[in-house]
Amino acid sequence: MDGQTIVAPVVISPRPAPQHIARPAPVVGPPLGMLAELTHRCPLQCGYCSNPINLLKANREVDTAGWLSILEQAADLGILQIHLSGGEPTLRSDLEQFVALLARKGVYTNLITAGTVLTRDRLFALRDMGLDHLQLSIQSVRADLSDKIGNIKGGLAKKLALAGWVKESGLPLTLNAPVHRHNIMDTGAVIDLALELGADRVEIANVQYYGWAAVNKAALMPEWAQVLEQKAVVEEARERLKGILNIDFVTPDYYAKYPKPCMGGWATDVLNVTPEGKVLPCHAAESLTGINFENATQTPLADIWYKSESFNRYRGYDWMTDLCNSCDRVDNCFGGCRCQAMALTGAAENADPACIKSPHHHLMAEITGGYAGEQAPPFVYRRITAQN
Ligand code: FES
Repeated sequence: MDGQTIVAPVVISPRPAPQHIARPAPVVGPPLGMLAELTHRCPLQCGYCSNPINLLKANREVDTAGWLSILEQAADLGILQIHLSGGEPTLRSDLEQFVALLARKGVYTNLITAGTVLTRDRLFALRDMGLDHLQLSIQSVRADLSDKIGNIKGGLAKKLALAGWVKESGLPLTLNAPVHRHNIMDTGAVIDLALELGADRVEIANVQYYGWAAVNKAALMPEWAQVLEQKAVVEEARERLKGILNIDFVTPDYYAKYPKPCMGGWATDVLNVTPEGKVLPCHAAESLTGINFENATQTPLADIWYKSESFNRYRGYDWMTDLCNSCDRVDNCFGGCRCQAMALTGAAENADPACIKSPHHHLMAEITGGYAGEQAPPFVYRRITAQN
């Protein structure tokens, strides 16, 4: 013997192949919420904008009567909350009519705005018509960086003025802060700003890589050390501010071990309507090929929700690969994000590669590792603006 420790050879048995589990078809109830993208026009051109890359021109937006019909159908379908969004929804001069209708129908309304064009008078008028809540996006707590990210001059000052009017009006206020490598180090300052402004809630939302964010991935992707530091800042603030400020944290899923439960599961609770009236289970769904998304100006909204092929495509468990179908976490993540699976693996049915069990999980590390230490390239901005 040469003194080495002799160990019995370890026999590694191959992992059993996942078995498909047959389960009953899902019971579909009414949707809880809807994102009404009233327009894709916007005075800002953020490098992570969730607008589709091929933007719709303004003259193909659903007209006032069309939106009133869609919103009324949504209320009749039992939807509880409607987020009036964009682009910039306050560019629609008929916004007041939508708020008034939804207030009459008893639907909770949230106005999601970048806050650079809404005046004090109009805000108070919207409140008087029944608006329930306002969500204001913040690009940065620093004026120069705010201008750079949104490609607009003087945006931060206008946003701060609007936040003051919202508090004066008595409406609840949420600050939404999309986070990426240029502003992740200011996460604590965003929370401080939310407190200072009297916000009820702040969303620290790490950018999701769809639409323009996918184009600008190299300019936006944070580094692992920054992500860890941010997580610690948020955890400390959540503990300290319990009962004072709600902090929602959307983690950066390129660094995650398991995927997010995207949309709470495909066509489970919410739907999106685009400016031209297309009805989608999520804002990025048009990136999925081979699906025909129906239009609410041509097909009743209830039929689209309950019966359409596009909404039923990824409901339940049967469409999943056996890996997801048989996983004990499936009711936590529902297979993750279909749009991310499509973008990175070429097939929406695959497990979201954010999952550590996915055979494609290595793509996440390759992508983030590829950007580590790199100088961030300049943003590619949208060319379509509020004036188009
Ligand atoms: Fe479409 Fe996740 S964004 S399913």
